[in-house]
Amino acid sequence: MNIILLGPPGAGKGTQAKRLQDRYGMIQISTGDMLRAEVAAGSEVGLQAKAVMAAGALVSDDILIRMLAGRINRPDCAPGFILDGFPRTVPQAQALDTMLAGLDRKLDIVIELIVDDAALTDRIAGRYTCEVCGEGYHDKFQKPANPGVCDRCGGTQFVRRADDNRETVGARLAAYHAQTAPILPHYRASGKLHQVDGMANIDVVTTALVAVLDGVQD
Ligand code: AP5
Repeated sequence: MNIILLGPPGAGKGTQAKRLQDRYGMIQISTGDMLRAEVAAGSEVGLQAKAVMAAGALVSDDILIRMLAGRINRPDCAPGFILDGFPRTVPQAQALDTMLAGLDRKLDIVIELIVDDAALTDRIAGRYTCEVCGEGYHDKFQKPANPGVCDRCGGTQFVRRADDNRETVGARLAAYHAQTAPILPHYRASGKLHQVDGMANIDVVTTALVAVLDGVQD
């Protein structure tokens, strides 16, 4: 299955994409993670993206479309993919349609996680990940079973994202409402858009997503 997970920053796209990948075997493609890897590598794309990401704005469509086209074509995506963070603008959504048509593939479902803006700042400000395996945690909502030890890999070093601060969240939310929300009518019109309440706790959201996906697979 080929899926898009949509939702504002902190809605739970990354958290849920990892769980769906483990359950169904589709590959999570996070354009945010891809950009952060470019920044860490000091590549040309990374140099262009770094300041834009730090300000909470969107990196250019050209860069993202090229990046996704290269990724979606790789053999590990053959069983399916979960797009997490793409598309984020109308031109990106149009480019995705063209890309998939060229590969003779199609989108099966688009799921929007609905979360109140007020909850997002707390989610983002409390987020951290394992430096070794990237497993995501939260100071309040998702703590490791043993404090300071990653549940997945046993790692003991954790990192926080440079753009996860209260000042940048406002800009990221504004970008979502101005540039990403306008893609929703496109998917609604295609009949592929489903909405899931992202305000519930993490396990309840996973259960709701699984119910939607299993319904589509039947
Ligand atoms: P990106 O990395 O995609 O960030 P984002 O969209 O802002 O989304 P987040 O990763 O912040 O949130 P999430 O929904 O994955 O939430 P998570 O599961 O971690 O993009 C970063 C930047 O890169 C952008 O600002 C832009 O500059 C650039 N970029 C990326 N893609 C681009 C594109 N296509 N075009 C242009 N620019 C692009 O959850 C958050 C926290 O909440 C976690 O700690 C988690 O434990 C907790 N949590 C999750 N679910 C729940 C729940 N149900 N209840 C309580 N806590 C929860």
